[in-house]
Amino acid sequence: MRNFTCVQDLGDLQQALKEAFEIKKDRFQFTGLGKNKTLLMIFFNSSLRTRLSTQKAAMNLGMNTMVLDVNQGAWKLETERGVIMDGDKPEHLLEAIPVMGCYCDIIGVRSFARFENKEEDYNELIINQFIRYSGRPVFSMEAATRHPLQSFADLITIEEYKKTARPKVVLTWAPHPKALPQAVPNSFAEWMNATDYEFVITHPEGYELDPAFVGNACVEYDQKKAFEGADFIYAKNWAAYTDPNYGKILSTDRSWTVDTEKMVLTNNAYFMHCLPVRRNMIVTDDVIESPQSIVIQEAANREISAQTVLKKMLMSL
Ligand code: CP
Repeated sequence: MRNFTCVQDLGDLQQALKEAFEIKKDRFQFTGLGKNKTLLMIFFNSSLRTRLSTQKAAMNLGMNTMVLDVNQGAWKLETERGVIMDGDKPEHLLEAIPVMGCYCDIIGVRSFARFENKEEDYNELIINQFIRYSGRPVFSMEAATRHPLQSFADLITIEEYKKTARPKVVLTWAPHPKALPQAVPNSFAEWMNATDYEFVITHPEGYELDPAFVGNACVEYDQKKAFEGADFIYAKNWAAYTDPNYGKILSTDRSWTVDTEKMVLTNNAYFMHCLPVRRNMIVTDDVIESPQSIVIQEAANREISAQTVLKKMLMSL
């Protein structure tokens, strides 16, 4: 596997899951694979889980790791070609990318949607420039439209906790005070659609996701109806996708917060969220602290998803 930005890059998903569970049994069985190889992790945005889990995964494989926070200590980067650089950005991404490629063997990039230009976001301008100009294999640590390491960890977690072969999985929108990208819900939908699970998406009208990601999912505007019989509730906020509201907050209606009353409608569902989560906006204290909450186990599986991906990339070097 040269690059990893979406579920299709993994190839056979069931085989990848098998490899992930083998790694989980013994995460130090491939410590020689990354010897003398360097992972460079580049963050255009903040992170707790992605940073730590990916670094840990690389260390488990024997890799050296370097982390660059672009907004803390690096030169401010211009990203658009053709701009007269007489402002506050002294370096262009088109030089910075190949320079970064000189110092490492694999590059991980985190670059969120900016909500300035929908076409740029959905064309994945930043990560695609890394793929094109770095000369190195590149993987997404959350790009503008997808967060595949998160979705892979989510899938591993569902496989571990599911009680039936074909669980009902519900992705629900929930309120949030800030405009958040669609990367997590897009990606979650993409990965759920790659399984044979029953998959339902529920959100208020106006929050429709890109149909390319919704795929064959059932879209239900009545949240309570969507929750009926669910085995997994996956909560997430996202800003509007459809024009002319792209990137806007249309609602902060707290009747969409996941609470005990709604969880009672489910088949004793597990509660999932990628974290960080705003308590009592997205989910109540009671639900996230309940035995059915598997948000910590989900975060722990980020190490496994990252290690499975890095192992595949190292094997292709
Ligand atoms: N879920 C996730 O990606 O967490 P961070 O933003 O903290 O990396």
